[in-house]
Amino acid sequence: MQGFDRRKFLKTVGISAVTAGLATIVGSLKSVSADEVDWFQNVNRVKDPLNKTPKEKGHAPVVQWPINIKNGEPFNLDIQIGESLHPMTSNHYIQWIEAYLGTDLVSRIEFSPLCPQAKVTIPVAVKESATLRILTRCNLHGIWETVKTVSV
Ligand SMILES: [Fe+2]
Repeated sequence: MQGFDRRKFLKTVGISAVTAGLATIVGSLKSVSADEVDWFQNVNRVKDPLNKTPKEKGHAPVVQWPINIKNGEPFNLDIQIGESLHPMTSNHYIQWIEAYLGTDLVSRIEFSPLCPQAKVTIPVAVKESATLRILTRCNLHGIWETVKTVSV
């Protein structure tokens, strides 16, 4: 009969404890962040404009510009996040807004939770009709995009 190997026993118990600890940590991370992982896996968009979900209503950028835009003349692009403004609290807020004409970045605005409103006005000029892309990021609900065509 072999004697008790104290060193081997402690090594086995230690590895088991570490493994169990990691499994617990990984398990808790999965359960805590399961919702967030879904939001952060893709760029989110309104799927059905006539039947928006509450998350879509609260996060999709809403953009407005003047009716008459002249070739090459600056105009104001008004952007707000959500149909009813997205909250700006220390736990849940809009981190940034980006505006693109086609693939060209026009402007990027960073926000902290101290900014009271998730809205901004950006001067823009276009020389021909262009695809306007507005991207924004909520710290809890990921990146959201709205795409519109600006006609001159
Ligand atoms: Fe959000």
